[in-house]
Amino acid sequence: MNILVIGTGYVGSTTAMVFAELGWKVTGLDTDKHKIQQLEQGVLHFYEPGLEDMLRKHVQSGQIQFTTNKDKAIRDNDLIFICVGTPSRADGSADMRYVKQVAEDIGQKMNGYKLVVTKSTVPVGTQEQITAWIAAAQEQAYPFDVASNPEFLREGKAVADALNPDRIIIGSNSKRAAHVLQSLYQSAKCPVVITTPRTAELIKYASNAFLATKISFVNELARLCDVLDVNVKEVSFGMGLDPRIGPSFLQAGIGYGGSCFPKDVSALILTAKQNSTELSVLEKVVQVNQTQHAYLINKVRERLGSLANQKIAVLGLAFKPDTDDIREAPALRVIESLLNEQAHVTLYDPVASLPADAAYKAVTECSKLEEALQAADAVILCTEWPIFKNIDWGHMKLVMSQPNVFDGRNILDPRDMRANGYYYQGIGHNG
Ligand code: UGA
Repeated sequence: MNILVIGTGYVGSTTAMVFAELGWKVTGLDTDKHKIQQLEQGVLHFYEPGLEDMLRKHVQSGQIQFTTNKDKAIRDNDLIFICVGTPSRADGSADMRYVKQVAEDIGQKMNGYKLVVTKSTVPVGTQEQITAWIAAAQEQAYPFDVASNPEFLREGKAVADALNPDRIIIGSNSKRAAHVLQSLYQSAKCPVVITTPRTAELIKYASNAFLATKISFVNELARLCDVLDVNVKEVSFGMGLDPRIGPSFLQAGIGYGGSCFPKDVSALILTAKQNSTELSVLEKVVQVNQTQHAYLINKVRERLGSLANQKIAVLGLAFKPDTDDIREAPALRVIESLLNEQAHVTLYDPVASLPADAAYKAVTECSKLEEALQAADAVILCTEWPIFKNIDWGHMKLVMSQPNVFDGRNILDPRDMRANGYYYQGIGHNG
């Protein structure tokens, strides 16, 4: 089977590489010439552990190739994965213009049977819409199927997740299409669920929304833990031992970010509204998430008083470790609040950097951690990069102006920090 992956962003690049790794011939298509040139040279345009090595290996062996020539790519491949972006519009709905464009291209250029599959997270009903878009664009009535096969990989762990998935969801109204997709994943050792396209599309949104719910639940609980003098990490641990609850996604902190949870939760809430129903639990999930960074800033204010002219070091910018992705990163909200209050902000992240945006020009980005902490009145830890767990706080006390640490990811030990002479505040993690 020759596979075409349209869109070489995060999901597309990883999908293409994984299919190449599984032994299929893959073509990656994108309209961005620069991106395609880089990929052809084995250079990945984002940071993802292990993925660039895979890219080089498969480019060299010829297992994978990249192109901007959509006509030829569509003609030469019968199995087409749509991996283009579905960004959020102002009202929270998914912007489908790139998916529509791809569907129309496929309709116009197809020269025989095509199986078109969505990997991107797309609203329920998209399979039907893509079918209509392709049919409307067709110059000749070639047969085709459209199926849904959502992606569940996490940034930072994309290679492991994509090679060892927990489940494969195939949404298809056609037995033939479902069979082709099943054979594509024949080496996978996980359950394969074959269902309707609508169900597959909703499974993806519901999964992300439920994980976001777990996080907001524990984040709000952490606020109660602060008042009750209970450690939320111990509560999460105890809860997580119940197999019905499970330990994952119960780490309290300054909230979830990234390109998926905020966008997908909003889109699902909107889908409910558009269908005259509501997902009120999810509305609260968003509200808790949007106020979680402010909860931590408030602790800083309680300690320092006015933040004007205080020097605050922000550690970590990426929305989570092992990625350079800063989309919807809680650290951005923290930095914006600090700047609004006229604080002097220094920033250190081992991989990610701020966008060239006037809004952040007052921030001093440092290439060394110690530089960021120089003369700081407080540190706010926003991303749990492993190196932040091993900071020599004894030494840093000599570097900082005041020993105040606000741990937005609960990765430091409150007792150790206090024994080192620090004023320490985590989120529901203080004793
Ligand atoms: C998420 C899902 O986990 C993937 O299954 C899904 O495929 C992906 O979205 C997607 O839809 O493409 P991702 O956004 O890469 O993956 O990152 P996660 O590891 O899920 O983390 C999301 C956010 O939640 C991060 O900001 C992280 O810091 C936060 N988080 C996570 C917590 O605050 N606490 C936790 O216990 C876990």
